[in-house]
Amino acid sequence: MSSRVPLYKVENVIGDEVLEPIGEVLQSGWLTLGPWTEKFEKRFAARHDAAHGVAVNSCTSALYASLRAGGIGPGDNVIVPAITFAATANVVRHLGAEVIVCDVKDNGNIDPAVLGDLLERYDVSAIVPVHLYGLPCDMHEIVALAREHDATVIEDCAHVPGAEFDGKAAGSFGKAGCFSFYATKNMTTGEGGMIVTDDEEVANEAKRIRNHYQTKSPAEKRETWGYDVDGIGLNFRMSEIEAAIGLGQLDRLESMNESRRTVANAYIDAIEEIPGITWNGGTPEKTHVFHLFVVQVLEDHPLDRDQVYDRLSDAGITTGVHYPPIPALSSYSAVEGEYGNAERFAERILSVPMYPDMSEDTQQRVVQALEAV
Ligand SMILES: Cc1ncc(COP(=O)(O)O)c(C=O)c1O
Repeated sequence: MSSRVPLYKVENVIGDEVLEPIGEVLQSGWLTLGPWTEKFEKRFAARHDAAHGVAVNSCTSALYASLRAGGIGPGDNVIVPAITFAATANVVRHLGAEVIVCDVKDNGNIDPAVLGDLLERYDVSAIVPVHLYGLPCDMHEIVALAREHDATVIEDCAHVPGAEFDGKAAGSFGKAGCFSFYATKNMTTGEGGMIVTDDEEVANEAKRIRNHYQTKSPAEKRETWGYDVDGIGLNFRMSEIEAAIGLGQLDRLESMNESRRTVANAYIDAIEEIPGITWNGGTPEKTHVFHLFVVQVLEDHPLDRDQVYDRLSDAGITTGVHYPPIPALSSYSAVEGEYGNAERFAERILSVPMYPDMSEDTQQRVVQALEAV
């Protein structure tokens, strides 16, 4: 009996190439927020068409710090897509602001037409588009609408390191872009995150928030001990070990994304031949980096999504649902906004196994199971 096919696989994603750098960090006498973090910030920001990078301990922290540095606080309305991981909405609530959910298109990304309506109806201070599954949103339309309504755009880039829209990196369209280096993401430091921005003030403010709002960085404190705390910060610091891993991951990002694309293209070809199942993905001007590969179980399929999930599970294939709509979560049951299509979308979606080095045999098992279902 062959083993189960996992949804993600993280073995060997971080390779031996990081062992020497980690050794250097351990010998350096400086374990957090130091030269490796700075190097990682610079290289990551440059790769994503941004002037500044601020490394933090998660994308959640990156979103919180970026929104706060962008001036969001109590009384503000912030639009997030109705389909996303809860973190995107939770940070808004942590800031004392109101979440308004925006409906999505059939690829799961925020629908600019609905966004336009919501911006007419509500006084909105910020929009957080999420480039879902690895596919960049329609950023030209979103940025134009935001400008028209004087709203700040903070991009949730948890799924898109290395992705581009119209030749420009996802994360470089709004005031800031927030990335995740969680274990299963396209590049990982175990846990971690990064803010990229062209706005020096936002970068400096995020750095203060990241380190208890101290007036001095760790390097400056090494010079002289005196410092002040003239605002309320948190500990969002990235360790030097994580930064060393991040630099290694950045070197591998293109090839890992390319590998994901190869797996995705094989899925796309196979799915064309399977009635009742579809994929709503890319367009030529968007480079999809396939953090997830999500199929949709259509109404004319003899089984519904949950039945497909069960059958695949019986066949040893692990799948998942990304994500239940925000209004379906108890804490958000009274959330305002528009989410009719998101509810329909969420009933159809199923994430199938996706990771960079999936073998053809393993992928064939997934495809055959989908065909059998
Ligand atoms: C769309 C989205 N935003 C934000 C996050 C939060 O990322 P982190 O776990 O790095 O805080 C995630 C994590 O899965 C996510 O999928």
